[in-house]
Order: sequence, then C-alpha cells, then structure tokens
Amino acid sequence: MRSMNRDPTDNPSSWRTPPEARPDLDFVVRDLQRTFLRVADNLRWYEQTWLGVPIWQLPEDLVALQRIVFDANPKWIVETGTKFGGSAIFFASLLAMMGRTPEQGGGVITVDIHETAEARELLQNRPHRFASLVRQRLVGDAKAPEIIAAMSATLAADPGPVMVFLDDWHDGDHVYAELQAYSRLVAPGGILIVADTTFEDLADTPVAAPSEKYPDAKRSNPRVALGRFLSERGDFTVVPDYTSTGISNFPDSVLRRTG
Ligand SMILES: C[S@@+](CC[C@H](N)C(=O)[O-])C[C@H]1O[C@@H](n2cnc3c(N)ncnc32)[C@H](O)[C@@H]1O
Repeated sequence: MRSMNRDPTDNPSSWRTPPEARPDLDFVVRDLQRTFLRVADNLRWYEQTWLGVPIWQLPEDLVALQRIVFDANPKWIVETGTKFGGSAIFFASLLAMMGRTPEQGGGVITVDIHETAEARELLQNRPHRFASLVRQRLVGDAKAPEIIAAMSATLAADPGPVMVFLDDWHDGDHVYAELQAYSRLVAPGGILIVADTTFEDLADTPVAAPSEKYPDAKRSNPRVALGRFLSERGDFTVVPDYTSTGISNFPDSVLRRTG
C-alpha cells in the first residue's frame, strides 16, 4: 500500500537521538510542558488549518500524528469529533500521500454529535480534494451502540488494520465508555489514541472553568479514563516516543493493542 519504500536505516530507533536521561531536569521539563499547554490551550494555539481546513490540534501533535499514521500504516482511521472536518481531511491526506486511493478501500470514518456547516460543505457539498477518502460520516453520540454498529459494519465489509483517534467530549465517564467500545474495533497491533489527556492540567484555568459540559475537569477527564482503562486491561500498552517528549496535548496516550 505504501508507495514509499523504506530504507532499512530509515527507522526512528536507529537515526533518532534517544531522549537523554536527565532526571535532574525532570522538574523543569514537567513545568515547561504544563505551562506551555496551559498557555497554548487558553490562547487557542491549537486553532490551525491543514490544507485550507480548520483543525483543532497543536502543530506538534500534527507531526506526531503523521509519524504514528506512517508507522502504523492503517487501512482505516476511525475518529470521534469531526468538528469542521479538519482532522478527517488531515488523516485522509496522509493516507493519500502514503499511496491509498478510494478504489483500494479503507479510509477515514468520522463521527460528531453535531454536524457543522463547515463539515457538510467540505465533506459533502463541495468536497475537498481528499474528501473521497473520508468513507463514512456519522452524526450522533460517539458511544451510542448504533454508531459503533454502523462503524463495525463498514470495517467488517472491508477488513484491515484500524487506528482509532478519540477526540470528542473530554468527560471521564464518556471517554472510558468510548475506550471500552472502540477498543473492540482495534485488532492486535492496532493503535488507539486518546486526545486531550492534558485536560486535567487545565482544570483551574479559564478554558476549563466549571460548566454544564465539564463540571469538574480535575476529577473527570481523559487521563483519568485512560488510567482506569489501562489498569483493567493487559492487552493494551502505551507506545513510548511519539508524544512522550516535547509538547503534546496527549502525552503518553498512544496505545497499541498487544493481545
Ligand atoms: C475538539 S473538537 C474535535 C476537533 C477535531 N477532531 C479536529 O482536530 O479538528 C470536539 C468535537 O466533539 C464533538 N462532540 C462532543 N460530544 C460528542 C459526543 N458525545 N459524540 C460525538 N461527538 C461529540 C463536538 O461537537 C466537537 O465538534
């Protein structure tokens, strides 16, 4: 599927400088990451565009996601949280650059509880040049059984490796329920990513002030959900490297199914 042949030396483990173990600097690194993200997310530095389409991801995370997609080479990318359609087009464009065509099957599946006018224009009325690889667009609660069933039917009709990106409502119980449901779509070797696990760190800042949607971001958030999921499951493991160093809104939240 991938059009680019890989040089055997083109392996991050051989050419990347391994992160230097500097426990004496951990305190300042952690402070820097936390402060950067509290500024970036309050000042909305995640409001970017990709190929002309609004996307809500930090630039650093777009690079990390590109690395993950390239390494995992999934046939399908299932995402929750379509918003304006930016992440769907981002993932579709990566698959296209890796050589996938609509005729070969696979592509992006996306769901949102609200359909935005922007997403409708981009993915339906005046399709973006990569919209043909967005194969299924659903509107509804991402954890609703009928949504999962619709996605499962699409995947069963054209099986292949799946990557999941959970980026919708960052409530802890909701993300935990999603982890249980969407983990079933991922076979051994597949990737599951939980976005915005830094939400907890924003708890006492304006962007995460208590609201009807998020009454208590400190206690109910994606990081809590992920911790609970991992404590119960031996068949998923955190993939180090991609978002473990530097700046990310989902540090240590890239999982691989191992069993
Ligand atoms: C952070 S935005 C997604 C950003 C998008 N993935 C991107 O990178 O541009 C979160 C989206 O989740 C949607 N959402 C909120 N609750 C949801 C739910 N229960 N099920 C599905 N989508 C939901 C919102 O409507 C919103 O569009």
